[in-house]
Amino acid sequence: MLLRLGLRPRSFAASTPLAASLAWSRPIQHLCDAQSNVTPNISDKIGVNHHLNDRHPLGIIKGLVEASFPGFDCVDDLHPVVTTKQCFDSLMIPEGHVSRAESDTYYVTRDTVLRTHTSAHQTELLRSGRTQFLVTGDVYRRDEVDASHYPAFHQMEGVCLFGADDLPAGAAPASAEATAWVEDHLKASLEGMVDGVFGPVEKRWVDAHFPFTDPSLELEIYFNGEWLEVLGCGVVQRQILDDNGAGASAGWAFGLGLERLAMVLFDIPDIRLFWSTDPRFTEQFAAGKVVQFQPFSKYPPCFKDITFWLPDTFHENDFAALVRSVAGDLVEQVETIDDFVHPKTDRASKCFRITYRSMERSLTNDEVDALQVEIRDAVAGELGAELR
Ligand code: DAH
Repeated sequence: MLLRLGLRPRSFAASTPLAASLAWSRPIQHLCDAQSNVTPNISDKIGVNHHLNDRHPLGIIKGLVEASFPGFDCVDDLHPVVTTKQCFDSLMIPEGHVSRAESDTYYVTRDTVLRTHTSAHQTELLRSGRTQFLVTGDVYRRDEVDASHYPAFHQMEGVCLFGADDLPAGAAPASAEATAWVEDHLKASLEGMVDGVFGPVEKRWVDAHFPFTDPSLELEIYFNGEWLEVLGCGVVQRQILDDNGAGASAGWAFGLGLERLAMVLFDIPDIRLFWSTDPRFTEQFAAGKVVQFQPFSKYPPCFKDITFWLPDTFHENDFAALVRSVAGDLVEQVETIDDFVHPKTDRASKCFRITYRSMERSLTNDEVDALQVEIRDAVAGELGAELR
């Protein structure tokens, strides 16, 4: 695909080494200040690095995508704690953008976060002189809790630059002609990657908006009767190239979610399984092989409801994060089952249903009750909410 479009795969050594590589230990508590909203169940995930395990579905899919981009420099060992400048400012994400909110992002200190996307490394890699690269890593978002959302997941970012020699004759890198050519190249490259990984599948392009690309697009693939968004991408903003020593080039970038792709490719129904250490999960996979996941028996769920008057500032993600911090992977789902506004006082309350289930064993009533008591205490203590 790349060759058909006239891009010569190049291999090259990076001109400068990257500062923060994997010479780090797992816990990051020592980095967190008193205001940090990083909970221990999240910091425990740091350093697990499923994407570096070639017998884990996430490592396997990473290898397949990397193989679709021959000649690209593959970076997969950058530390997930990044500055807000790396994660947001350098990508033209404005102050006040929702992705910066404490309800959505894990802040380590005021100026550092757990990266919310691998795009956080785009500009440092551009400055290192790389012109074609893939960067893979664990990313973190405070999010709802269900079978396809988990606060820690993995992404791969891809960037490809073109100099005047690669572009159609006479097209200046900053010209509209170059932008249109780069967009065509981007679409063809990503369609080729998806065909390579999934076999021929139905795909469609959807217009999107990202602050760091113009134009911006999303690619969806048709799978099991629905359209599934698999990646965001676009033509890199001129200002980003100019600010990072790549002003003489034009280029594209994409970011894809590895869990999303792996759930489809391996038929894995629940995103929590990627973190399972149960041999019935881990032993199903082998390096370089795509197999259909064989479900093993599920242990029974246990439901508990909790209702409280909402404090003045409340975000559902705060509650989901609190539940996770108490019960970890024993929580399968947190859903709102009732919203109530008092007709006289205008006070709002919500009822949440927490589904507890272990992937590994049957939970006892006593232990679930104890977790629920802990959650109730934390709702009153940490969220300052009044229980009903
Ligand atoms: N960073 C985006 C996200 O996490 C995905 C993305 C979109 C990455 C467009 C890109 C891009 O490099 O060009 O949702």
